[in-house]
Amino acid sequence: MAAFHQRVFSGMQPTSTLHLGNYLGALTNWVAMQETHDCIYCVVDMHAITQGLDVWGGPTELRRATREVAAAYIAAGVDPKRSIIFNQSQVAGHAELAWVFNTVARLGWLNRMTQFKEKAGKDRENASVGLYDYPVLMAADILLYKATHVPVGEDQKQHLELARDIAQKFNNDFGAEIAERGLATGDLGFFPLPEPMIQGPAPRVMSLRDGTKKMSKSDPSDYSRINLTDDAETIAQKVRKAKTDPEALPSEEKGLEGRPEAENLVGIYAGLSGSDKAAVLAQFGGGQFSAFKSALVDLAVDRLAPIAGEMRRLLADVSHVDAILHEGADRARAIAEPVMADVKDIIGFVRR
Ligand code: TRP
Repeated sequence: MAAFHQRVFSGMQPTSTLHLGNYLGALTNWVAMQETHDCIYCVVDMHAITQGLDVWGGPTELRRATREVAAAYIAAGVDPKRSIIFNQSQVAGHAELAWVFNTVARLGWLNRMTQFKEKAGKDRENASVGLYDYPVLMAADILLYKATHVPVGEDQKQHLELARDIAQKFNNDFGAEIAERGLATGDLGFFPLPEPMIQGPAPRVMSLRDGTKKMSKSDPSDYSRINLTDDAETIAQKVRKAKTDPEALPSEEKGLEGRPEAENLVGIYAGLSGSDKAAVLAQFGGGQFSAFKSALVDLAVDRLAPIAGEMRRLLADVSHVDAILHEGADRARAIAEPVMADVKDIIGFVRR
């Protein structure tokens, strides 16, 4: 029997402006994957509302951020003709399949999710049910398209394992019905077990103010990160002001040990130039830090300013971005609807 067709699904939440960490850690990978896979890239607006209104910012902010994240995908090089770009809430199957999966997933499984514990914090009684259920919706996102590969960061690995557990339990629980209806693909059953593609060797991009902390949207200092919307002047200034130490650059990678800021900037240079730290050090090692920094300013402006420019251009015509999202949603639905119809048959939901 035919094996599962290789399909990539991934998504980002429209909760704030994307930054260099999202670009080097995820988007450059997404762009590259278009060469080898059918790709679906989602703006997960339904996930965005699982935290308090104060976190997602209300309707005006959600619309703005949804369009901005879509524009960032496109500006970074995701091609909306080749890949599918859409926002989650436009395809009803995400919520429908999540409901079915709510009855498959076990409380014990969800109780182990570390991200919920972190996000809910001390006041767990006051967290939304949606935040608790977040990983089930994520499993639905992926399996609604029978996606086989999911590029995610290390922090999402546990959620991917949960998606595999849900797929496997569904396949087992309904194995007889799936077989009887001829809906198994290969010997796995109805759903594939999606594989995480943990992103690397792309550098972990750290804060420009503190090389031991991840670059993050929640850092209060804007100088800690380069936003994908920053213009050339802002990018240049942030790189110039980035924290360094007084020593020259080493010629070998092990000389970066214990020098987190230097290591971070070398990693960023490597990421932006498509090389690796060793090659960057072979070029700049032994020289003044200032010479390396001005090269990094040039490279960062060169690579990132056009992305910000393209985002501005796209967002100047919101109706064009919306049209891309509508068309993407139509294409997504065309894949999702037959899967959902099969799921309904397997469960025993009467349908027309
Ligand atoms: N939880 C993911 C994150 O915060 C976003 C996400 C939602 C996702 N649904 C997904 C990622 C499906 C991959 C596949 O990064």
